[in-house]
Amino acid sequence: MDADARAHSSAPGARRAPLSAAEPAMPDPWTLRYEGFDPVQEGLREVLCAVGNGYLVTRGAAPESRADGVHYPGTYLAGCYDRATSAVDGHLVDNEDLVNCPNWLPLTFRPEGGEWFAGPPVRQRLELDLRRGVLTRHALVADPQGLRTRMVQRRVASQAQPHLVALETTLVPENWSGRLEVRSALDGTVTNTGVARYLGLADRHLVPVSQGSGDDGLLRLEVTAAGSPLHIALAARTRVHHANTPLPVDRIGEVEDGWAAQLLTLDALMGRPVTVEKTVAVYTSRDPAIGAPLRAARLLAAQAPGFDRLLAEHALRWAELWRRCRIEADFDGIGSLHLNLFHLLQTYSEHSVDLDVGVPARGLHGEAYRGHVFWDELFVLRLLNLRFPELTRAVLRYRHRRLDAARQAARQVGLRGAMYPWQSASDGREESQRLHLNPLSGHWLPDHSHLQRHVGSAVAYNVWQYYQATGDLDFLATAGAEMLLEIARFWSSSATYDPGRGRYSIRGVLGPDEYHDAYPWAERPGVDDNAYTNVLASWVLARALDTVEALPGYRREELLERLALGPQELDRWQEVSRRLHIPFHDGVLSQFDGYERLAEFDWAAYRQRHPDLRRLDRILEAEGDSVNRYKASKQADVLMLWYLFSAREVRDLLRRLGYPAGHELLRRTTGYYLRRTVHGSTLSSVVHAWVLTRSDRRASWRHFRDALTADLRDVQGGTTCEGVHLGAMAGAVDLLQRCYTGLEIREDALWLDPHLPSALGHLELDLRYRGHWGVELALDHRQITVSLRESRQEPVQVRFRGSPVTIRPGESHRFTL
Ligand code: BGC
Repeated sequence: MDADARAHSSAPGARRAPLSAAEPAMPDPWTLRYEGFDPVQEGLREVLCAVGNGYLVTRGAAPESRADGVHYPGTYLAGCYDRATSAVDGHLVDNEDLVNCPNWLPLTFRPEGGEWFAGPPVRQRLELDLRRGVLTRHALVADPQGLRTRMVQRRVASQAQPHLVALETTLVPENWSGRLEVRSALDGTVTNTGVARYLGLADRHLVPVSQGSGDDGLLRLEVTAAGSPLHIALAARTRVHHANTPLPVDRIGEVEDGWAAQLLTLDALMGRPVTVEKTVAVYTSRDPAIGAPLRAARLLAAQAPGFDRLLAEHALRWAELWRRCRIEADFDGIGSLHLNLFHLLQTYSEHSVDLDVGVPARGLHGEAYRGHVFWDELFVLRLLNLRFPELTRAVLRYRHRRLDAARQAARQVGLRGAMYPWQSASDGREESQRLHLNPLSGHWLPDHSHLQRHVGSAVAYNVWQYYQATGDLDFLATAGAEMLLEIARFWSSSATYDPGRGRYSIRGVLGPDEYHDAYPWAERPGVDDNAYTNVLASWVLARALDTVEALPGYRREELLERLALGPQELDRWQEVSRRLHIPFHDGVLSQFDGYERLAEFDWAAYRQRHPDLRRLDRILEAEGDSVNRYKASKQADVLMLWYLFSAREVRDLLRRLGYPAGHELLRRTTGYYLRRTVHGSTLSSVVHAWVLTRSDRRASWRHFRDALTADLRDVQGGTTCEGVHLGAMAGAVDLLQRCYTGLEIREDALWLDPHLPSALGHLELDLRYRGHWGVELALDHRQITVSLRESRQEPVQVRFRGSPVTIRPGESHRFTL
């Protein structure tokens, strides 16, 4: 762990133990290490030590543990949701949850007749090898009789065969010999109780179908989801050996509803290692190319390679992943950078591509936000576009499959086009809560976050960025255009003309800053003319018009006909895109119309009383006040514009809308909102690091460090144990990739304008761009070199600070800064 992280880790107000042996250490940039056992930190460690492969993620919970308030064994399979109804504050609410799937880990042991080891061990060290994707636990276990056993456990979720997970346990009796009993199990009785705020809501999603311990030595378990047709099947093979020589064991099956176990008994000798290999195959009814999930699981478990081979194949895939993600930078946070990429690649990988899944905001690491998909992919895909464009495409396909649901949602509110949901899960309907709990007051409050219509613009932006990075015109012309045009249509139909102003307005929405969900003087929810929403709407309409122009051959007529899109409607898009109202006050962009009428907040007084103001909304509500009354933001809102677009592009967008925007606007607007933002979302640091790059490099670097280590340090004081913050994790890496290099992809060129922070001496990246596998950027404070690997691809147009250079495959070009 780096020095900067230490300085922040005991921030006032944070609910965490002080620095101790419990702090994570990164002894090298590829290892996360925790010494000792700390019940307070266990949930956080489980998340940061999770292993996964894009098909599933398993928290780093101890195999002998159960959900008991300290431990929370959780395995989440991408896209496996279940719907249930709960009673909340006298209302029935319907929620779709990412299901906590059967626990494949359970494994414990005892000297015969003693007590089953249920943790914690006497000594323990956890070590996550980020390079190879292996979690290793070294422990010393003592039973009440004083019999001591050394234990080494290694676990992987295979990146080579995503349906396989494995746990290898090596036991060495230190001061005893005798019969050793091992219990290996599959547990389908688990529930979704990982988030305290949701306790009391429906949490039982698994219904046992069958379980057994077969003559073939395999355990099997099949469950179905309580409220959906999902079936999940697991088969486990448990083998025991000493130095690769199988050991004779007695096996007894122990089977109950939702639980399948085997009791293995064997001779153990003092000092002689006994290795227990548990290899588990997992399939669901959502998987392509299988028959019945249970049959597939049994076949695979029976044929799976031994642990060492499985590990070797898995490590090979990780080596590939790291090559594709190569970022070399000489600063002390490089370990955090690897950790972030590691969890990103465990959540979404090539194994996610055919699963029809989006990017869950909190990874597949916990149950916060019920595993839903928000707009956070906006922060993730910008990174993936230049590394794994096929993953971006798969995420966009997830959105495209839900286009009809988005059309239906627009129709339901009397509008046209596609209205994407703020929270999305399996079928694309709006999954946002209508009530949320303020834990500070105990009040259930109306939740208007679904009015964040800007999520649709994020989908459109992602389509366009993917197209820019890949030049994949076929995608743009098909699924891409269908989404873009329908989102544009939605904006056009949302805009109402105000003859007094001579402009169009978009009313009743929420911006990214979720604090303002209504005017303090109004009855109805939402605010009007959120600047971010309107500028993005204008951008979407303009890109939709460009897309119509770019549609090749007969595809244009085809699509215009299919969408019943005539010249009149296209004219209206032009008109709306140029005449949306954008509010200003005091020489800055207003977050929304009427923002200037809000009261200034007494920051000094509140900071004295509450050292941590990140949840100012909750604090004020608990005091009978409302954050809606004040000029105070949870996270970047207006400033998102300069996160998504260069200063010149923002200027052009505003000018297109008829607002003369000078050079000063960014500086003034940044300063104004920075003073009024509490960074209640981890995404906020990413955006601020970005927008401050040119004006305040030191502050930018500070925000970058905050974003980069947000989960490692659990900056929100207890939220990481409910899942990683994937947007911030990926967004922080993207700051190195695109922000400090000034890298943009537009107008068929790679634009470069580096501004390396002084803390960074040197940076090297390998990108994929328009069919080039290997565009290398190497830069320091004096120069930047762009090199292309040999290929038959077209030359790449690079624009260094605006001036164009063409680089051919196999060539490099050096630019002096
Ligand atoms: C943020 C949203 C974000 C969501 C999921 C919220 O706290 O305000 O912008 O999409 O978390 O990460």
